[in-house]
Amino acid sequence: MSANIAEMEKRRSAARMGGGEARIEAQHARGKLTARERLEVLLDEGSFEETDLYVHHDCIDFGMEKKQIPGDGVVTGSGTINGRLVYVYSQDFTVFGGSLSNRHAQKICKVMDTAMRVGAPVIGLNDSGGARIQEGVAALAGYAEVFQRNVLASGVVPQLSMIMGPCAGGAVYSPAMTDFIFMVKDSSYMFVTGPDVVKTVTNEVVTQEELGGAITHSTKTSVSDLALENDVEALLAARDFFDFLPLNNREAAPVRPSVDPWDREDKSLDTIVPPNANQPYDMHEVLRKVLDEGDFFELQPSHAANVIIGFGRIEGQTVGIVANQPMVLAGVLDINSSKKAARFVRFCDAFNIPIITFEDVPGFLPGTDQEHNGIIKHGAKLLFAYAEATVPKITVITRKAYGGAYCVMSSKHLRGDLNYAWPTAEIAVMGAKGAVEIIFRGQDEEGMAASTREYEDRFANPFVAASRGYIDEVIYPHSTRKRIALGLRKLRTKQLENPWKKHDNIPL
Ligand code: HXC
Repeated sequence: MSANIAEMEKRRSAARMGGGEARIEAQHARGKLTARERLEVLLDEGSFEETDLYVHHDCIDFGMEKKQIPGDGVVTGSGTINGRLVYVYSQDFTVFGGSLSNRHAQKICKVMDTAMRVGAPVIGLNDSGGARIQEGVAALAGYAEVFQRNVLASGVVPQLSMIMGPCAGGAVYSPAMTDFIFMVKDSSYMFVTGPDVVKTVTNEVVTQEELGGAITHSTKTSVSDLALENDVEALLAARDFFDFLPLNNREAAPVRPSVDPWDREDKSLDTIVPPNANQPYDMHEVLRKVLDEGDFFELQPSHAANVIIGFGRIEGQTVGIVANQPMVLAGVLDINSSKKAARFVRFCDAFNIPIITFEDVPGFLPGTDQEHNGIIKHGAKLLFAYAEATVPKITVITRKAYGGAYCVMSSKHLRGDLNYAWPTAEIAVMGAKGAVEIIFRGQDEEGMAASTREYEDRFANPFVAASRGYIDEVIYPHSTRKRIALGLRKLRTKQLENPWKKHDNIPL
């Protein structure tokens, strides 16, 4: 071996040791993998090509000039997931707590710039104490450079953030601007100010986990799309998830060959909707019976569960699913479910993923809480998102399609391409009881009952809407998969563009 090569190898192995044996052990003792071990799980075996292994910081304050660790706390490069290209960065907590120096930021920016040029997704594995305190404003500048790239990449290449350790202060805003966030339970947290500052300013006593752990963010705040048990589970979930996504906004999502017949019928769907309109059923069951192999990758399952979002496939092709869930709050649309579904619809539209909507919605949730917290503005987000979306849109009304929610949930009037209803569909301004109390106010009990029956006879079916062409066809529930598959085949060549504009002004 030549001396030059020996020198290179020496430098490489030094860099690969990161912050050293003791800190690696400490990382393992916390149940966390190291930055490089994580990449081994995330990427196809042997596919990782590292860049900027020898980059080090240029800080000369607080004795930092004597502390140089090659790589500077972040492992960057590219690799493949099931053969498809992805750019990655993985922060190394064993090196200065994974804190972000200006050079560390430059490495991340280089990866993002390259990903944008070639049109490949970026996955960031975050495990960092935030801005490198010794560097001051240079570290802040580094963050801002990353933020700028997150925004430019938004809608161009998919961006996924894995939170696998601390993510605090302004650092949270880079993941927050990416498309999806997966967090690891018990070892990751995200907050703008930590428990100590919270106590000083507000006198509240709160743990890191309560303030910004994976459970908090995947139930209360919706900052996180999924909470996973540990590093390995999270990284394997990221691999599965990646397979649903296109590489960029000009490419189609990958097609995964499926053995599930495209015209498979499921007779149990004919009876899944209970005869009593107030009785719930599980919309997940409908999804499982319609999608390829029953495979559904749900996002935000524990937040605003009255609407279900996630990815599945039909004939191997990725579809985005938005579905009201009658099991939770009767599937009503409220502030949180509107925001949850709206952002998902916009992701699908940005990345050419057809949207299939399963609708059973009794309307928007009434009440001062909702009104005073802005259901008008937040409900408008979902309406706006569906209305601007130009991807193929197929809607299946399984039962209730009431009021404004009928309009919002990808109705024909919002350029729905194929709007199907099951025979159990009820398409009306509101439920019969509420309607009769308004239009027949003052009637005696008997009269009210008769009017309610009359209203139900008129609107508790899909045929009035179908007679106006607002529903393209009333279909057998058991044929739903087949009808969607046929629809998607025909819509593959769909062309629709919105008028030119710099950008829209969605109600934020
Ligand atoms: C430099 C840091 C660091 C930082 C941690 N370290 N955070 N070095 N800058 N921000 C170093 C520690 O000195 C230590 O070095 C090693 O990383 C591990 O840290 P520990 O404290 O020993 O680990 P732990 O007990 O697990 O605590 C982790 C931590 C804590 C909770 C992240 O280190 C911490 O609170 N750090 C500061 C967090 C913070 O306030 N960051 C600034 C946020 S503001 P040694 O050599 O001992 O191993 C921000 C602004 C961004 O980020 C703005 C963008 C707009």
